[in-house]
Amino acid sequence: MTVEDIQKAKAAIPFNREQLESVLRGRFFYGPSFDLYGGVAGLYDYGPPGCAFQANIVDIWRKHFILEEDMLEVDCTMLTPHDVLKTSGHVDKFSDWMCKDKKTGEIFRADHLVEEVLEARLKGDKEARGVVSEEVEESDDKKRRKKKVKQIKAVKLEDAVAKEYEEVLAKIDGYSGTELGDLMEKYKIGNPVTGDELEPPKAFNLMFETAIGPSGAMRGFLRPETAQGQFLNFNKLLEFNNGKTPFASASIGKSFRNEISPRAGLLRVREFLMAEIEHFLDPLDKSHPKFEEVKHIKLSFLPREVQEAGSTEPVVKTIGEAVESKMVDNETLGYFISRIYQFLTTIGVDETKLRFRQHMGNEMAHYATDCWDAELKTSYGWIECVGCADRSAYDLTVHANKTKEKLVVRQKLETPVEVTQWEIDLTKKLFGPKFRKDAPKVEAFLLNLSQEELEKNAALLKSDGKLTFTVPEVESEVELDDKFITIEKRTKVEHVREYIPNVIEPSFGIGRIIYAVFEHSYWSRPEDTARSVLSFPPLVAPTKVLLVPLSNHKDLAPVTAKISKVLRKEKIPFKVDDSGVSIGKRYSRNDELGTPFGVTIDFESVKDGSVTLRERDSTKQVRGSAEDIIKAIREITYNGVTWEEGTKNLEPFVTNIDSE
Ligand code: ATP
Ligand code: GLY
Repeated sequence: MTVEDIQKAKAAIPFNREQLESVLRGRFFYGPSFDLYGGVAGLYDYGPPGCAFQANIVDIWRKHFILEEDMLEVDCTMLTPHDVLKTSGHVDKFSDWMCKDKKTGEIFRADHLVEEVLEARLKGDKEARGVVSEEVEESDDKKRRKKKVKQIKAVKLEDAVAKEYEEVLAKIDGYSGTELGDLMEKYKIGNPVTGDELEPPKAFNLMFETAIGPSGAMRGFLRPETAQGQFLNFNKLLEFNNGKTPFASASIGKSFRNEISPRAGLLRVREFLMAEIEHFLDPLDKSHPKFEEVKHIKLSFLPREVQEAGSTEPVVKTIGEAVESKMVDNETLGYFISRIYQFLTTIGVDETKLRFRQHMGNEMAHYATDCWDAELKTSYGWIECVGCADRSAYDLTVHANKTKEKLVVRQKLETPVEVTQWEIDLTKKLFGPKFRKDAPKVEAFLLNLSQEELEKNAALLKSDGKLTFTVPEVESEVELDDKFITIEKRTKVEHVREYIPNVIEPSFGIGRIIYAVFEHSYWSRPEDTARSVLSFPPLVAPTKVLLVPLSNHKDLAPVTAKISKVLRKEKIPFKVDDSGVSIGKRYSRNDELGTPFGVTIDFESVKDGSVTLRERDSTKQVRGSAEDIIKAIREITYNGVTWEEGTKNLEPFVTNIDSE
């Protein structure tokens, strides 16, 4: 079986999500949390192969990003005080649109509902026209729901209506709550099961709220992203980096979102592992020193304008061309897009099922000025798995304004510059006696006045001899004369440039990526479709080697023990399967776990130390000494050597072991 043969097998046998899920759950890659208690939607536990797989992906992520770019890793708390997330904008804006069934109270996520119903109507239209759609098998749950979905009938739509639906679907991520409400009204979208009327969409904040400490006085949230911890440690990280930019911080940890209706398995959960990078850079220089190394990489893009025109036809070009034409705004954003592509394809994402989609204006998070998502095609459609956003100086600015702590880079200027600006001086010894406990608030307020406000107040102070202000959290109006403050325009020579850096943020949802790799790696053997294979790249496979003694004969045990000892010493994850079932069956169960290599120990092994090595996808076998076989496994797994190259000095071995 070559890579092409696998592609052919995948194309010939329709993807069966139910079969994959039964393998994943059956082999305990993951399973629903708390299922003894009936389970909780959107919460999953990972079992042994799932944990090993996730650990391998995180390890590759660390090496690919943190080590390669010398990033500064931090591990920050998940519990976050209310004030931090109020300042960051999450308390007010981190929400999705939900609508409630007026009769039953059932809740739907508005954009997903519109999408699901319009897609279903288009499918019904195709069926009515006798067009067979390239459809994937659906889970029992979805089939059950669909049976009841009123809109899914084989009903022909007018051409213009079908076209309108397609256009709406291309723009589905960009609608506001009001627009979604209008669409629901226009297309008569109600509860898809009962047809009941729904309330208009309402914003629902996705954060889990809690109280920190026994008094309950300090409100807090479980973090919805790891990013805030990185921003709040900016000054310490900058100092750690000797004051130099650009630099990136990185963090891997759990985030929490109270998703409205988590229905798509690992793709939409309420607690998930995120790996995020915050790359801090000069807003006047967004070039990247290593852009040259990636600029030849060809990618599939779905820019904003294409979607706004109602199309989902990708634009294929190199990242170099994309940046040059300004489709992608700058080199650093382009560099990370390419590095995301390299990471995803290394861990087993099928590159024909990967595209980079730019956010539309309405769709962008409140902090972003531009955003490209790496989307992976799965049986649930195209799914955002990595967001790559330009957060500009938003977060550092809002936190600095709130805390009055400077979050800036100071850059020594080669040529000093003259700067003219308005400045305010406070006669501080007068503030304490006059304002008592409010003095610090009044002082902070005055020191924070903008250039425009200073200019205006300088004129007023000159004309009226006094100024009055309303200061937040100070009860009475503040009145000050020129004994308290002086406002003047001054010219100074500056030797240092001070700026708030901009941030480029690649943000990875590890669970979504893992699920997409499961789907992209999954296929069934054409000769027996019940035999499933997960063709993981050896580097990410949970277990690398299955040791298979031919039988339970006592003579084979010392050889198995000896090889086990070497593999353990070499830190190559392996499992021994000495169960009584046939070798073919034992290999077949391990194909389902994605184990790339099998080593068979037989009676020849007892005599001369030779063993057989079997490759999972092709089922090809070679024979050699245990040392040479282990060397080949190590080279192929960890050093990127191909099977052909790694086994070229070993003897081909022909037997029909897989059918035993
Ligand atoms: P969606 O629109 O699908 O809800 P999002 O736009 O909210 O996703 P981001 O806020 O950009 O997603 O989050 C960054 C990354 O975190 C995503 O690319 C995704 O991989 C992951 N992620 C977000 N929400 C979830 C979730 N509920 N379950 C699993 N992963 C998630
Ligand atoms: N930190 C990116 C996000 O939460 O979307």
